[in-house]
Amino acid sequence: MCGIIGYVGKQKAAPFILEGLKRLEYRGYDSTGVAILQNGAFSIVKKIGRVANLEKEVAKAPLNGTFGMGHTRWATHGGVTDANAHPHLSSDGKIVLIHNGVIENYGSMKKFLLTKGYTFESETDTEVLCNLIAYHYAKEADSAEENRCLAAVRKALLHAEGTYGIVAMSVDLPGEMVAARKGSPLILGLGDGENIVASDVSAIVARTQSVVYLKDGEIVHLTPKEFRITTLDQESVAPFVDQVTWSVADAEMGTYAHFMEKEIFEQPIALENAMRGRFSEDGSTANFGGLNISAGEFRGIERFTFCACGTALHACMVTEHMIERFARIPVECDYASEFRYRNSPLFRNTLFFVMSQSGETIDTLAALREAKRKGYKVLAVTNVVGSTVAREADGGIYQHVGPEIGVASTKAFTSQLLIGAMLALYIGRMRDLSFSDGVDYVRALKGAPDLVRRALEQAPHIQAIARRYARYADMLFLGRLSLFPIALEGALKLKEISYIHAEGYPAAEMKHGPIALISADCPSVFFAPSGEILNKIISSMQEIKARQGRIIAIITERVELPAGLADEIIVIPECHEAVLPIVASIPVQLLSYYIAVERGCDVDKPRNLAKSVTVE
Ligand code: AGP
Repeated sequence: MCGIIGYVGKQKAAPFILEGLKRLEYRGYDSTGVAILQNGAFSIVKKIGRVANLEKEVAKAPLNGTFGMGHTRWATHGGVTDANAHPHLSSDGKIVLIHNGVIENYGSMKKFLLTKGYTFESETDTEVLCNLIAYHYAKEADSAEENRCLAAVRKALLHAEGTYGIVAMSVDLPGEMVAARKGSPLILGLGDGENIVASDVSAIVARTQSVVYLKDGEIVHLTPKEFRITTLDQESVAPFVDQVTWSVADAEMGTYAHFMEKEIFEQPIALENAMRGRFSEDGSTANFGGLNISAGEFRGIERFTFCACGTALHACMVTEHMIERFARIPVECDYASEFRYRNSPLFRNTLFFVMSQSGETIDTLAALREAKRKGYKVLAVTNVVGSTVAREADGGIYQHVGPEIGVASTKAFTSQLLIGAMLALYIGRMRDLSFSDGVDYVRALKGAPDLVRRALEQAPHIQAIARRYARYADMLFLGRLSLFPIALEGALKLKEISYIHAEGYPAAEMKHGPIALISADCPSVFFAPSGEILNKIISSMQEIKARQGRIIAIITERVELPAGLADEIIVIPECHEAVLPIVASIPVQLLSYYIAVERGCDVDKPRNLAKSVTVE
């Protein structure tokens, strides 16, 4: 949550920072601000609302300095006001600070600082940290330490409890910047005569592909030509310079109206990228390069636990179905936020998995750390290279789907489903899944991108349905077996971007309570693929119809529903069980998207949400 960017270089900082803020806006969009060091003082402009508002404000008084920082906020401490927006300036005017995270002990810090004469204009924990840095900075006036601002930030952070990704500058030290992280991501971008620090790669790729991923507990001193990383204990850190493999175009909308639309339609290619090079030569199983666990060790696993949040948890639930079905090993799925506090017993020979698109979700990270603390090996499925989850896991699988910018996860979700299905195949082939079943399975997975292309052809039809259903206040999503998690996902997608109340349920469970909601005002989206339990699903549909409930049925090609049972029908291709959840996700993504557009909602930046939830 919150996007931060700092720039020290030779070009005007403000245009680059504003551009970067637009790319980071998906991380939080309550308010934004920029601070530029020019003519021996900080020029600070802050505004509630979107970066576009800030741009208008900045245009009124041009900012020409070449050192500066910007922030886009997702409020934690203090309401959404101009005063609470970042950057914050210390009351002595010396230090400017932007921050992503939560300083938990800011109350006691503030009491102390008030006794020292510091004053406060906002309700934020960040302003308190900023003044604490200024306090140490003032004390450092005669210090022999090489850099006064670095020393002050380090000393302040030694007192800080909580999480932070911060960038600080002193008014006396033009061209110098200090950044540090604990629990909130920070990346350095190394340019030609310029250095950048930002929350994620999207803000940097326009200028450089060379990046350094900072680790928790590290602090960096930057100038336009140099950077030096140390730990809070002043140990030197040798940087590892990585090359980003995606380009600016990957993080741009192109001809689409929204990132979500772009990412929905990108899914065939995203799936191809996620599976590339990951099938065995004999075409009967999957291969993963980075698991860091031998086939023998895998063979000894007797149980899996998967932890994640939101959409990623739904992907875990589908993976549970696939592993239990094709590899016959018990799997447990848990909300990462619950797992971390529940102290649930884990079995011997359990392999722990987390899934996280961003690799920065704090609850998922906490679950990973808790499992590691208990001595378990933890593997991760994640999309963001160099993310904290990727670094802290013992091994894992990258999704390789490029940046996902829309707050509502789409291509990351279907690639997680694909990887889950590939895992089930990999484990299944070590056990009882035969060579020929493996070959069929691989063929089916390889066909997934084309099946998704065909499902996407339904877009105009789904858009027309969306127009008819956009004004309902409630909706149910009902599915069975591997499509129950897709029902949960459909409901989550709809509520997060259109603000329609929606619930996902196992179709047959509906009659144990939710059926009370059914009336002509509460439509149901039913997944009804061909298969052994189709008749049971049809019975559930009849129960809804008998109560005047409208039905949107998502069926596979071979299904014939009784005449008049469904009010709307969306047909998706027949496919292998392992691929069905991927293909069935497409119509609910499109339905949610078009309903949200029809309602005039801000699809890519839904209210109250942020793309990556890095606070508890
Ligand atoms: C998805 O549409 C949501 N925005 C949200 O549920 C998300 O999936 C969740 O916060 C987990 O994010 P992660 O995959 O980055 O960990």
